[in-house]
Amino acid sequence: MSSDSTQPSEAVIGVHWKEEDYFTPPASFVKQAYWNDPSVFERFSERNFPQCFDEYADLLTWSKRWDKTLDSSNPPFFKWFVGGQLNASYNCVDRHLKEHRNKVAYYFVPEEPDEPTVTLSYQQLYRRVNEVAAMLRDFCGLKRGDRVTLHLPMTLDLPITMLACARLGVIHSQVFSGFSGKAAGDRVTDSQSRILITADGYHRGGHLIDHKEKADIAVAEAAKQGQKVDKVIVWRRHAGQYASQHPMVKGRDFFADEVLKDYAGQEVEPVMVDSTDTLFLMYTSGTTGKPKGAQHSVGGYLAYVAGTTKYIQDLHPTDVYWCMADIGWITGHSYIVYGPLALCATSVLYEGTPTYPDASRPWRIAEEYGVNIFHTSPTAVRALRRVDDKLPLKFKHHFKHMTTVGEPIEPESWRWYHDVIGKGEAVIVDTWWQTENGGFMCSTVPGLHKMKPGSAGPGLPGIFPAILDDHNEELKPGSGVAGNLCIRNPWPGRMLTVWGNDKRFVDTYYAPICRDLKSKDWRDWPYLAGDGAMIAADGYLRVLGRIDDVINVAGHRLGTKEIESACMTVPEVAEAAVVSVPDKIKGVLPEVYCSLRPGVAADEAMAKRISNAVVEDIGAIARPRRVWMVPDMPKTRSGKIMRRVLAAISAGKDPGDVTTLANGEVVEHIRQQVQGK
Ligand code: WTA
Repeated sequence: MSSDSTQPSEAVIGVHWKEEDYFTPPASFVKQAYWNDPSVFERFSERNFPQCFDEYADLLTWSKRWDKTLDSSNPPFFKWFVGGQLNASYNCVDRHLKEHRNKVAYYFVPEEPDEPTVTLSYQQLYRRVNEVAAMLRDFCGLKRGDRVTLHLPMTLDLPITMLACARLGVIHSQVFSGFSGKAAGDRVTDSQSRILITADGYHRGGHLIDHKEKADIAVAEAAKQGQKVDKVIVWRRHAGQYASQHPMVKGRDFFADEVLKDYAGQEVEPVMVDSTDTLFLMYTSGTTGKPKGAQHSVGGYLAYVAGTTKYIQDLHPTDVYWCMADIGWITGHSYIVYGPLALCATSVLYEGTPTYPDASRPWRIAEEYGVNIFHTSPTAVRALRRVDDKLPLKFKHHFKHMTTVGEPIEPESWRWYHDVIGKGEAVIVDTWWQTENGGFMCSTVPGLHKMKPGSAGPGLPGIFPAILDDHNEELKPGSGVAGNLCIRNPWPGRMLTVWGNDKRFVDTYYAPICRDLKSKDWRDWPYLAGDGAMIAADGYLRVLGRIDDVINVAGHRLGTKEIESACMTVPEVAEAAVVSVPDKIKGVLPEVYCSLRPGVAADEAMAKRISNAVVEDIGAIARPRRVWMVPDMPKTRSGKIMRRVLAAISAGKDPGDVTTLANGEVVEHIRQQVQGK
């Protein structure tokens, strides 16, 4: 599974972490928690699987109730709540109007502190979703099952557009706004979108960023790949003004605010779809080749995010909730849009960076809106801590609950999160899950479990994780040995398949550990997560990181292969290898090693071109920390690049024994180049 066959697998690495002391959730939290009675563990025990998940589906409103909770007759293509029909936009908006139409759905906080907050009630959300749905249906010609690519930044237009798609049964595929035009174009092609919905610009880090430029690149790229985009819909950040230097293309590009004038006040009947219809695609990086479209269902996904938002986020009607993630990632889809809205929650939606104009911004926002549930990533925690490790204590915010997600959080940062951001008053959930999973998979139940810094909790109720060794044998909890993390059972939030590629779905997540590929019993089909992890004697999970070729930069997944092929678009590059190096803030960063074609000068200009190629192909989040141009790559005798050796050099470590390599002498040369004499 790893790129170097000679690398010791995670399964044989003994882990010698010190066990951390437990923290007890505050009594005031436990008293009010939805789940504070241990009978939940019995209700969601293996004995009650899969019916236990009816409890999640019952949080939704169905136009037709399901006949069968789980259809597992064709593994691993499991189907949930089969026979049921519903509409996601109806569940997130319409059904709340009768009693809560004036409740705030979102406080949209622009990055510029002087720009006023936009408060959007459920009634206003309803109006806007309906008008946009009318535009998508009548102006764009979209209907149930069609795909549409969104490349939108963090403004209200994003959740509104997603819900408008859902209202029609149209499948949205939102591409993170920080991704390049080329990356958006690839996703337009793969999803066969005829419509691209974008924005002219957005505020980030104190700049008004020109975003429309990327749409032009995306459309050209898709055309090159054979996918024609008929219309580009452009949301304007400031109505009536145009934030981009790139002209609108006549007959192709349209301002959303202008087109919407024709649809003012229109209402669109929500299209009731099957539980197993597709709600959205979310592209994510994997081991090989191009990103894959994780295809998520309407019924199973929505039930799972509603259930986990209610019981793990412990989101109550009177809470004010703020998840600092970007909606362009799965965390935002599940825990800014679908989960909270399905529960009729009030959320903060913040446009920009947490440290603009300074690191007190999150605490000012939390004070102003009375945020009491806070959700962020270890990278953000580390960044805020570095600026000033006392600052949050100077503000009057009070969190009862805080979430961390996306990467392992080291106990030091966890304790700072708890003591300083949370002032020792908040319960913390460290939630492990993936784009493919739809929602939280491992975490403590906040009102029932003690917390352990640096460990996500056990499997959620109804989720049964296990650690496998190289022979797919289960390692006992508490063995102190790490292995491959898998989930033994199906669950409602899991993706249906990889868009357009069932084989890749089976090959990536199931085939490597399947007990019998012919079996029709779900028990023979555990899900392979692609993470190395260990389970302690108390059942808590400790995630070590990816065991495939994925680099997790600040919680954003990037494929080493994607970065390497971006480098190879520079014609002078002969070979490229990407390794991850530890970084104090972002967890890890990609670093590039290239060998150049004969006669090409290895100068700064060349390094810059290679780095730029990565940014253009993927986006600024993939920018390499350094590009090293080396005379040759260290290789095994069979010609495989030894990324492990390069990674050790990048991390300032001893590259180890290289005598078995085909060209061991080059290692010392590279070591001196990178580490000095
Ligand atoms: C990592 C993000 C440790 C893991 C929701 C996983 C974590 C990948 C945690 C998925 C956590 C996520 N502790 N590692 N609490 N949460 N990861 O698809 O390596 O963007 O496989 O989903 O992030 O990243 P993705």
